[in-house]
Amino acid sequence: MLASSYPYYLANKAVYANQDLDVTNKYTNEVATKVALADAKVIDKAISAADEAQKAMNKMPPYQRQQILEHCVEGFKKRFDELAHSLCIEAGKPIKDARGEVTRLIDTFKIAAEEAVRINGEVTNLEITERAKGYTGMYKHVPIGPCSFISPFNFPLNLAAHKIAPAIAAGCAFVLKPASRTPIGALIIGEILAETDLPEGAFSILPCSRDGADLFTTDERFKLLSFTGSPDVGWQLKAKAGKKPVVLELGGNAACIVDADSDIDDAITRIIFGAYYQSGQSCISVQRVLIHSSIYERFKNQYVEKVKALVHGDPLSEDTFIGPMISEGEAKRLESWIHEAVDAGANLLCGGERNGAMLRATVLENAPRDTQVNAEEAFGPVSVISAFDDFDEALERVNDSQFGLQAGVFTRDIYKAHKAWDELHVGGVVIGDVPSWRVDNMPYGGVKESGLGREGIRYAIADMTEIKLMILRTPQ
Ligand code: SIN
Repeated sequence: MLASSYPYYLANKAVYANQDLDVTNKYTNEVATKVALADAKVIDKAISAADEAQKAMNKMPPYQRQQILEHCVEGFKKRFDELAHSLCIEAGKPIKDARGEVTRLIDTFKIAAEEAVRINGEVTNLEITERAKGYTGMYKHVPIGPCSFISPFNFPLNLAAHKIAPAIAAGCAFVLKPASRTPIGALIIGEILAETDLPEGAFSILPCSRDGADLFTTDERFKLLSFTGSPDVGWQLKAKAGKKPVVLELGGNAACIVDADSDIDDAITRIIFGAYYQSGQSCISVQRVLIHSSIYERFKNQYVEKVKALVHGDPLSEDTFIGPMISEGEAKRLESWIHEAVDAGANLLCGGERNGAMLRATVLENAPRDTQVNAEEAFGPVSVISAFDDFDEALERVNDSQFGLQAGVFTRDIYKAHKAWDELHVGGVVIGDVPSWRVDNMPYGGVKESGLGREGIRYAIADMTEIKLMILRTPQ
């Protein structure tokens, strides 16, 4: 169902230039399609076009921005199967997860369509002192200007959507660089956007190599940079971004606490999902599992049996739960982390075998604190389990991380739930479920090395707009 080649989108138009980028089927490793690759000149043109289009974007009324987003929702619904199939091929995402992502793409654009007509201002009281008598303030939110977006490989549709949809809702022109390993999802979004009345130049979607990629970060015509991807790259980009504000959605080594009063079967079902869906390639996938010592052995035995039974294989098969990682290189990297942990004294309870990019779902026990599989972002199908005796100690161990995106806590005790919410140093605490839970209107983002700012449409719109104040003097 993939086309034999894809254009890039420059200033709203499909350009079938060179077809220099091979996009592989991540399961078979064969070239699945070819994609036009932008160079520095093209990126520069796209930024100029966005800068020019911003004037028209500033004037576009909210109901028109809403109509554009609604058109996209309809387009995605019509092309649902094609979109899900493209995720299976380009990202190796199992078909059930792929359908889930398309459903979320639709949600994300729907939420943005609703928010587009709710960007309100406020009348603000300025008469706080005698010299301000007769003065009234009122402000509105205006588009910040052309935005630079860089999206990752693990959710080729929905993490691009978390930038594109709020930009349209807010009235910002944009240039997006999708991940070069998985550009197809964003390019199909581009095809649907090209059918709309967005002013010429309002969007460009440009897969590119290193040539010119720096412009996404350094060019001062951009008024915001929003990046989703690895912590190392994200913080490096921020250092080069100049005066523009930067939003960073980075990674983590998310932890999940299972307290003594938990429903063990439910916790196991949810943690298996949270740790292993799309082969653990999510910034909030469960990596560290802390289980109360009173239920530890029971949890461990059932958990390991169920992880062993997960179906590995072709992402296109309805039964597959674990597909390939994004590349053999990534699978090898994680395999070496597993070996490092075992050499340092961790018990390998299951998994660890690799065949190309397929890494078997792995459970490790008691990986020492500083092993990479514990302390770094694994971004693959591995979880590390260990026992705790005291809830406060478990909270401290969750916080003993350079990252802080989301954490999960299985407890039925409301006071412990509140304590976790207060004391965990993360962007979001999920009580009764895994840290991997996300719905697309919630504020989503991290602290510490996990990032800066929040996505989730309303929060992204706040970053993509600025307050513009008018002061009105009524002569007394
Ligand atoms: C991420 O991997 O950063 C996003 C996770 C999600 O949207 O579910």
